Amino acid sequence: MALRIDVVSIFPEYLDPFRHALLGKAIEQQILSVGVHDLRQWASDNHKSVDDSPYGGGPGMVMKAEVWGAALDDVAAHTGPAADKHLVSATPHLSRPRHDALQGIEQVGYPEHSQADERPLLLVPTPAGTPFTQADAQAWSNEQHIVFACGRYEGIDQRVFEDAARRYRVREVSIGDYVLIGGEVAALVIAEAVVRLIPGVLGNRQSHEEDSFSDGLLEGPSYSKPRQWRGLAVPEVLLSGNHQLVAQWRRQASLQRTLERRPDLLDSADLSAEDVAFLQTYQQQRSKEQ
Ligand code: ADE
Repeated sequence: MALRIDVVSIFPEYLDPFRHALLGKAIEQQILSVGVHDLRQWASDNHKSVDDSPYGGGPGMVMKAEVWGAALDDVAAHTGPAADKHLVSATPHLSRPRHDALQGIEQVGYPEHSQADERPLLLVPTPAGTPFTQADAQAWSNEQHIVFACGRYEGIDQRVFEDAARRYRVREVSIGDYVLIGGEVAALVIAEAVVRLIPGVLGNRQSHEEDSFSDGLLEGPSYSKPRQWRGLAVPEVLLSGNHQLVAQWRRQASLQRTLERRPDLLDSADLSAEDVAFLQTYQQQRSKEQ
């Protein structure tokens, strides 16, 4: 069944990238359907206001519980202003095969979620959330209905999420230790990471099994033609045609890069005795050079 994503925001035009590239293609293939909803449709006063000053004082504004509550009720049930909203892909992709679409690769689905809990997943992007990871993306690629609540200003009245937990599974998530103006860009980031993992969206399952993070390590460097470019050569081993040597070189390049850029990942990565020996030798060499 296709994944349904609904996004509620006061800047619906910010979500236009959903219609392009990979996400647009998934919409066109009917693997994904997307509804973008303007929060102001649920504002009840003459000024269509969606925010108010915070209790307890302080700077900024807080988004109102009544407005968000009504919006999330309708989006969960596809009723009211949330009924029958569907984004269409911006450009026709189906007639144009992707350069990397592989012929003859069997599509292997992900294990069916034994989803006893049928409530939609409500994702609330916020710098105060738990960190979004590749493992979340993998798990959420099995969902049937994901709703993003994109807040602005100083956030959304917390009671909205306590109340929403009655009809949604609620997760407040952060995409990194920095502060954006609102949740829209974070929602796009999360949606892209999730949708690309749905079988059939990328031509080839292996292409994401080798991604950075999927085995707990960073992916190493890649090269293509020409062999020599501006005096720089492609590593010789990649031209050798020896698959075993190539695989070993790639593993070591990945270990080396992870050690240099994200040593924290090595603590929880699945490392063989050979990997550990390589890292030790590499580290010894590095400390001699310094
Ligand atoms: N909204 C503002 N900053 C954010 C962040 N870092 N992650 C998710 N949502 C956000």
